[in-house]
Amino acid sequence: MRMVDLIEKKRDGKELTTEEINFIIEGYTKNEIPDYQISAWAMAVFFKDMTERERADLTMAMVNSGETIDLSAIEGVKVDKHSTGGVGDTTTLVLAPLVAALDVPVAKMSGRGLGHTGGTIDKLEAIEGFHVEISKEQFVDLVNRNKIAVIGQTGNLTPADKKLYALRDVTGTVNSIPLIASSIMCKKIAAGSDAIVLDVKTGAGAFMKTAEDAKELAQSMVRIGNMVGRKTMAVISDMSQPLGYAIGNALEVKEAIDTLQGKGPKDLEELCLALGRQMVFLANKATSLEDAEEKLKEVIRNGKALEKFKSFIENQGGDPNVVDHPEKLPQAAYQIEVLAKEDGVVAEIIADEIGTAAMLLGAGRATKESEIDLAVGLMLNKKIGDPVKVGDSLVTIHANRQDVQEVVDMIYANIRIAVHAKAPVLVHGIV
Ligand code: URA
Ligand code: CA
Repeated sequence: MRMVDLIEKKRDGKELTTEEINFIIEGYTKNEIPDYQISAWAMAVFFKDMTERERADLTMAMVNSGETIDLSAIEGVKVDKHSTGGVGDTTTLVLAPLVAALDVPVAKMSGRGLGHTGGTIDKLEAIEGFHVEISKEQFVDLVNRNKIAVIGQTGNLTPADKKLYALRDVTGTVNSIPLIASSIMCKKIAAGSDAIVLDVKTGAGAFMKTAEDAKELAQSMVRIGNMVGRKTMAVISDMSQPLGYAIGNALEVKEAIDTLQGKGPKDLEELCLALGRQMVFLANKATSLEDAEEKLKEVIRNGKALEKFKSFIENQGGDPNVVDHPEKLPQAAYQIEVLAKEDGVVAEIIADEIGTAAMLLGAGRATKESEIDLAVGLMLNKKIGDPVKVGDSLVTIHANRQDVQEVVDMIYANIRIAVHAKAPVLVHGIV
């Protein structure tokens, strides 16, 4: 087989066979096929697309390029949740204990964040003592006993995707639905869960700017998952404005605690229920999606979800008292209010720019090497559709330095106040 023939075949809009796709991905992983040929092939895919079969084959070729995680020692149907990335997305912190309270095993391998705020691990490390450096045996044992554990990233998973994603980044081929879908799905499949729930974001803060594109991506990922034997569902959700009020690591832990007590932001609660009901249903812990949602509301009402969060923290070395005393979380030295300069209704809160403002305070990493400050971040006091009067606080900045003028300017530039505006629909669709 010659790579040049496969580039021409895709260039001419033809379907590649399973063997041909395996040849490309194996050759690239072993450095036998050079970047320039893979770039040409990725561009051909960008313009000529891939069939569903090709997408599933590409996904599995990337899964097979490296190690995979074996979760078979954990009892029950393991369901993983994945979000395509948003600002102030506190859902994982809420969902993990919430579904575990219904005996859905949550065996989460998680990473550190790059960008707006930390990843799930960074956020959890805002809790004194909490750590994810546990052995594989401890991890399995904790999930079997308490249904929930988080471990740091281990193993060389999907090396082909790492190379291909980096190459796409510099060759104008990131924004291709077959390439994005296979890139996301190969990582989820390699991580070993039996079922996958996807949260595909749409809007200013998301990868997919329109609901149509988000739906197409969601459908593609769901088909790939189901074709390769992992039950998969997706929710398409709004990311035109940040989710909830909190953007920042300790601030989001507090927001998750509030939500587990049934007094969190309405949008965050709605999304957690939409994703959680799919997780509970796919794990065979409910007879229907409606039944699953009822059960989730019940464990919020009766305190079992909050108890689960406490035992989870304690099992991984953290201080469970933060749940009843969130003031024990790291606190920033200064709280600075950003006040509205006009009357009206909040019409826009540009999610990605507000996320960048939080990063500038130190809540997120600009580069992999950056240190993050777990205490800092932003609390939105208004969301789209809320009326405002001159002098109302739009945002509270939690900072560890006094000079935050740059952040204040960014906030003003990215919150628009108009005469009329309505809160956006949060859940755009279910796939
Ligand atoms: N996230 C991924 O992991 N891969 C893509 O291709 C795009 C977003
Ligand atoms: Ca939030």
